[in-house]
Amino acid sequence: MSARILDGKALAARIRAGIRDEVAAGVAAGRPRPGLATVLVGDDPASHIYVRNKRRACEEVGFTNFHFELPAATERAELLARIAELNRDPAVHGILVQLPLPAAIDEQEVLLAVDPAKDADGFHPRNQGALLQGAAGLRPCTPRGVMALIDETGIELRGRRAVVVGRSNIVGKPVALMLLERHATVTICHSRTADLAAEVAAADVVVAAVGVAKLIQGDWIRPGAVVIDVGMNRDEAGRLCGDVDYAAAAERAGWITPVPGGVGPMTIAMLLRNTLDAAWSGYQP
Ligand code: GUN
Repeated sequence: MSARILDGKALAARIRAGIRDEVAAGVAAGRPRPGLATVLVGDDPASHIYVRNKRRACEEVGFTNFHFELPAATERAELLARIAELNRDPAVHGILVQLPLPAAIDEQEVLLAVDPAKDADGFHPRNQGALLQGAAGLRPCTPRGVMALIDETGIELRGRRAVVVGRSNIVGKPVALMLLERHATVTICHSRTADLAAEVAAADVVVAAVGVAKLIQGDWIRPGAVVIDVGMNRDEAGRLCGDVDYAAAAERAGWITPVPGGVGPMTIAMLLRNTLDAAWSGYQP
């Protein structure tokens, strides 16, 4: 058996095109043009690339992008003052502070400073709490992208076994809650899980988000399973690879996301969706 490929690049392009049309129609009808503020602190090269891609995507769909680059030595008070200003600015509907922040800055304090109604990343504890309780709120982008990819397969999640490998606040935990919200039977695995192979082998849906190159072996995959690989690692040869051994897993899976071109582009599409929701939905947590 050979898996069908879940093409995140193509799906993300369709979502962006839909958002572009919605923005054009909405703005023509008098709605405010959505604005996303991107805040980048320090000189992490990967972060610069991610933020550049996010800014470009904003402009392509007709959002306004407000961009702020601050030096690595930025004082906590200065960053908090900048965020407070963006919170007050009516032209800014979404605020994204790129992570990781320099070690001297308390990440939690910064995430708490963002107005939850403008929290395009869905990282504020208030939005995370809303997800936990099943209440309305801005959901984190990568988990939203994972769910959209799973929905592309047409499988019914209700009653299915889903295994999430990884328990981060930005992917593992929220994606587990979103699968649970859809009535999957969810298991969260992590570095201390006793028998990861057996857990994965029982899964109808596997979401891998641990950040360990090719940790999930192909022969662990249950035949026909949906495999979503959030990992973005380098293999021995320096090539980009996911958390799943793709070639071997594709022999057994029913559906699988490639790396790159799977989850990555979906994160940005969902960031745009969140910004549009924040701008127009009147969401007040
Ligand atoms: N760093 C890695 N992933 C993300 C993300 O989704 N949002 C932000 N702000 N920073 C990140």
